[in-house]
Amino acid sequence: MYIIFLGAPGAGKGTQAAIVANELNLTHIATGDLFRQAAEGGTELGRKVKSYMEKGKLVPDRITMQMVLEHVSVLGQESGAILDGFPRNLKQAKALDEALAKKNKAIDKVVYIKVPEEELLKRLSGRWVCRNCQTPYHATDSPPKAEGRCDRCGGQLYQRPDDREQTVRKRLEVYLDKTAPLVDYYDRVGKIVAIDGKGGVAKVSQKIVSALSRG
Ligand code: AP5
Repeated sequence: MYIIFLGAPGAGKGTQAAIVANELNLTHIATGDLFRQAAEGGTELGRKVKSYMEKGKLVPDRITMQMVLEHVSVLGQESGAILDGFPRNLKQAKALDEALAKKNKAIDKVVYIKVPEEELLKRLSGRWVCRNCQTPYHATDSPPKAEGRCDRCGGQLYQRPDDREQTVRKRLEVYLDKTAPLVDYYDRVGKIVAIDGKGGVAKVSQKIVSALSRG
């Protein structure tokens, strides 16, 4: 099963993709996490990637495709994968379709998580992320058991530089312009599974798992 998780910044893609991947035994591939790892590495590629992320812009397709297709090359060897944050525009979506078709595979479903803008801003301004395993927390809605420490691995929590209000606004603008048209692209081929992303994390996971199991 190959599933894309689509939604605005802060919709809960990363949170839900980790839970659902675990539940359905799928590999979780998150381009944002891969880029943040590259940026931390401080290589030339990492510095380039970081400069786009800090401005809230998409990393150029050439860099993104190269990095993602390396990971997609493993697709077909496991029971399936959740792609979180990829594709982000029509060019990436078409390239992904082609790469999968070469392996006689295709995207099965696209989980589109819908959350109102006001809630997105609240979620992003309170988000803390584990520097080690990338697990997201929220200062008030889903705080860690020990302040500043990840429940899962004990890693240090930090606030993403691109969660500053001005950068969040830019990310939302980029989402509406470049990524939101993918909803139509996948809806035309009957692959969209629309999920109301409001409510607690567990409630949303349940909705996703039961919608996916309905086929
Ligand atoms: P990326 O890391 O993918 O960021 P994003 O898409 O903007 O999404 P976020 O990670 O901000 O949000 P999310 O939907 O995963 O929400 P989360 O689960 O964390 O990308 C970052 C950057 O990398 C991009 O701007 C771009 O520069 C680059 N990039 C990445 N992919 C690219 C691509 N394909 N092409 C080009 N460039 C690319 O949840 C958010 C908060 O809400 C957390 O605090 C969480 O605890 C809380 N929360 C989650 N669910 C709930 C709930 N149900 N109720 C209450 N709180 C909740």
